[in-house]
Amino acid sequence: MAVVVLAAGAGTRMKSRIPKVLHSLAGWPMVRHVIENACALRPAPRIVGVVAPGAKSVAAAFAPHAVVVQDKPLGTGHAARAALSALAGHRGPVLVVFGDAPLITTATLRRLVAACSRARAAVGVLGFEAADPAPYGRLILRDGGLEKIVESRDAAPAEKQVKLCNSGVMCISGELLPGLLGAIRNRNAKREFYLTDVVAIARAAGHRTIAVTGEEAEFQGINSREELAAAERALQQRLRRAALDAGVGMQDPETVWLAADTRLAADVSIGPCVRFGPGVSVGVGSEIRAFCDIEGVRIGRDTIVGPFTRIRPGSVVADRVHIGNFVELKATRMGRGAKANHLAYLGDSDIGEASNIGAGTIAVNYDGYGKHRTIIGRDAFVGSNSSLVAPVRIGNGANVTAGSVITEDVPAGALAFGRARQVTKKGRAGELRARLKARAGK
Ligand code: UD1
Ligand code: MG
Repeated sequence: MAVVVLAAGAGTRMKSRIPKVLHSLAGWPMVRHVIENACALRPAPRIVGVVAPGAKSVAAAFAPHAVVVQDKPLGTGHAARAALSALAGHRGPVLVVFGDAPLITTATLRRLVAACSRARAAVGVLGFEAADPAPYGRLILRDGGLEKIVESRDAAPAEKQVKLCNSGVMCISGELLPGLLGAIRNRNAKREFYLTDVVAIARAAGHRTIAVTGEEAEFQGINSREELAAAERALQQRLRRAALDAGVGMQDPETVWLAADTRLAADVSIGPCVRFGPGVSVGVGSEIRAFCDIEGVRIGRDTIVGPFTRIRPGSVVADRVHIGNFVELKATRMGRGAKANHLAYLGDSDIGEASNIGAGTIAVNYDGYGKHRTIIGRDAFVGSNSSLVAPVRIGNGANVTAGSVITEDVPAGALAFGRARQVTKKGRAGELRARLKARAGK
């Protein structure tokens, strides 16, 4: 099987510097959803992206898959033809999908491929009943098969009454594909090479062509910011439902924002207003309390995070860890049972098992030029309001006293004071106050 992803359109309605198919949806560039859902087909298909000239960032989003360039945007048929060079020798079915329609599921793609194979169809098309059919091509059925697809602008009045619309997703026999694409002409309202013409072309050559129906929600294309936001809502619903079904608890699911790759084990519980960026996994029984923003972290079992915790990419949090309010982690590892319960910045740090990080601790990881690591061993204790000036190491079982600025390594078992000594003068408070009061009176 092969999947051709058309992504050479301009996407001007997004009014953006970023190519449309790279706009983020559930933590991934839009087109990655299409690629991943296609990749989940079995046998794993060959993926070919069709991109516009110079669209380097779009091509990069397809890596490691093949990419071809459509030299001019002359229509979907022309774009599909550009992919032929990457499909040389391919004989199995070829699915054509759009890079800006990211809600299509693997199951629906599979259903189309299976129906084509069962019917020995040269071309199969996914259709749907649209709430508003106006912008879509219409599927004209005949004798239980699909006769042709007419674009809205080219449709006769009777054809405009047809409610069954073209999703754009097609499955075409790989053997017939070069011939079918080669026969497409651009005699139509838009002077474009319409991929949809392959249906009538195949039919005229005596091949079977079929329509398979699906849900409109899966075929929603994205052209504007508003449609992007609507797709995000739809996808979030889907992701939340899947998490709840898998045994994840959520107090207020509507306020939990997941990424497409968020992996939450059973009995994970999520408080309100939590955002998961890409690359998060959370183990059994862990709790993510309200108002957390976490990204790029593997969290173990029976760990408590939040409320109000921020975790940035490159972090690993082991089992039974506690990370509390206003604690930020970046590229930091916390060992089993470690605690950082309040108000801390732990960047580029390694915190050993069962160590305790006091309130107000800062890993001073940046000197204005480079980033440096703070390495803390097992069972260490860092007193409140300490600055650990990296690179620095604190050994197993060491104790850093509160308010310390630690600039030198602290060996295992050592007690470190990095602060000025306190001076206490008995009975002198009244004298000071009298002096200050007199001065203020002047
Ligand atoms: C297309 C279908 C229409 C269908 C609708 C579903 C055709 C002729 N029409 O119309 O029947 O109902 O989708 O949304 O296929 N693209 C390229 N190169 C091009 C032109 C387009 O790569 O030269 C890509 C676009 O980036 C986009 C996709 O193909 O991902 C669809 O193109 P678009 O212009 O949106 O087609 P529609 O007019 O919406
Ligand atoms: Mg479109």
